[in-house]
Amino acid sequence: MRSIRRMNQPRILDGKAVAATVLEECRTETAALKQKGITPGLAVVLVGSDPASAVYVGSKARTCADLGFHSVKIELPEDTTQEELLKVVADLNADPAVHGILVQSPPPKHIDEETVIRAINPQKDVDGFHPENVAKLVLEDSSAFVPCTPAGCMKLLEISGIDTRGAEAVIIGRSMIVGKPMAMLLVAKGSDATVTIAHSRTKDLAAVCRRADILIAAVGRPEMVKADWVKPGAVVIDVGINRIPDATRKSGSRLTGDIDYAEVAPRCAAITPVPGGVGPMTIAMLMKNTIKAARQSI
Ligand code: GUN
Repeated sequence: MRSIRRMNQPRILDGKAVAATVLEECRTETAALKQKGITPGLAVVLVGSDPASAVYVGSKARTCADLGFHSVKIELPEDTTQEELLKVVADLNADPAVHGILVQSPPPKHIDEETVIRAINPQKDVDGFHPENVAKLVLEDSSAFVPCTPAGCMKLLEISGIDTRGAEAVIIGRSMIVGKPMAMLLVAKGSDATVTIAHSRTKDLAAVCRRADILIAAVGRPEMVKADWVKPGAVVIDVGINRIPDATRKSGSRLTGDIDYAEVAPRCAAITPVPGGVGPMTIAMLMKNTIKAARQSI
């Protein structure tokens, strides 16, 4: 008998539900560490008052507190100097109760982010942005801290039973936070995907995207990916979190991804919603990384 695949009802990859199971695991691991006298500690640092960053940092600190971590939230004014920020990082490096340090990106323009990232002790770099962790990721060294958003995408694929081996994966976006580490994870042994990193200069981006069995959008352009960019039956992961005006909402705005969900969803086999897809996974993986940092500190 021939099987007929319905294309108009994609599987929704529920990041909120999967993140909840990861956080339950974290809760158990935290309890076990506390029995050994170690309380995982995470410090999140926010410079300036970008409203989206403030929401992310708040939610990271809340999740920490909920898991029983030692949680430090440092909010610094917009005009904090590079030297002042480096001093805060140095103090956190020296604090034995802090196992993980995260400086929310992007910082204000007068701060050189590269210098700040390099100042973080690589053993506390739970973002996985320090060159030492970037190198470890490329080397497939299991002690690496893997950046939380791509790690969350991989976990979501894995727990959803989506087989990446031999798949054609296309990532739109070449950032150090998502695009590049995502490529490394997908091409690594065990994941075994064939990876293309596309970006704003890619020739015929739509045609490149149409090759993808797994399409990952991480560009920060609201609803950029249209139905005819997507191969029927593809798995689509939307990393974008964009706030756009919406007069029908009381708030006057709503969140949307980089994928035009209404157009694309009927065409694909599985898709992540925004919100409730990759976002919650990012926070869950940050908690995992902090527990890993605490364990590796012993
Ligand atoms: N800004 C957006 N995503 C991230 C992240 O994963 N880590 C940090 N530090 N800043 C971000």
